[in-house]
Formats: sequence, C-alpha cells, structure tokens
Amino acid sequence: MTGGDATVLCRLADIPDGASKGFEIGEGPEAFEFFVARKGERIYAYENSCPHTGGPLDWTPDRFIDKESGHILCATHGALFRVETGQCLAGPCAGDWLRALRVSIDGEDIVFER
Ligand code: FES
Repeated sequence: MTGGDATVLCRLADIPDGASKGFEIGEGPEAFEFFVARKGERIYAYENSCPHTGGPLDWTPDRFIDKESGHILCATHGALFRVETGQCLAGPCAGDWLRALRVSIDGEDIVFER
C-alpha cells in the first residue's frame, strides 16, 4: 500500500537486476535528482549527489553501478559506495554516505515516498 505522497517511478521490470535508473522529482528549488539501484528483488534509492563535491555521480544517464565491483560508482573521482547502505567504501569520501531515500515495491511498481 502507498501513502498520499507516493509517486510511481517505473516498474520493477524496467530496472534489470544489478542495474540502476535515474529520476528527477519536484519542481523549481525543490527539484532534485536521485537514482534507484536494484539487487535481486530489492531496491535502494539515493540522491544523485556525491558527498565529495556534491556533484552528480553518473557520467552516462542511468549508469550508477560499476559492473566490475557491483558497487555504486562516482564517475568524477571514482568513489565506490555500497548499494545496500550508501556508505563510501573507497575514494576521496571514504566513510561518508549517500543520502538514502524511501522507495518501495508495490505490486509491479517502484514507488517513491516523500
Ligand atoms: S565527486 Fe564523487 S568522488 Fe569526487
């Protein structure tokens, strides 16, 4: 079930296992970018902002996961983040965290919850 401020982002099937997808939500000064990463039947969402400089993580739209390591990769200086927690494992912001957002799976849909 979803609450009043829930927004359907896409279907779970739109994000293959081990892949990710970027989104933008809100308007004007409230707008921000984030992404959803999938591991098996679980999903995780983080703001698209590297704790190192605040810049975006992806160098190509929807590509947030490093294929070799399976971790979230910041393309700017190579920081790696654990998909399940958002903690930086290596790179200039090691020990810092991505800002996690609330998403859930509702039937076949991925839902963003404010
Ligand atoms: S901006 Fe992400 S590692 Fe430097």
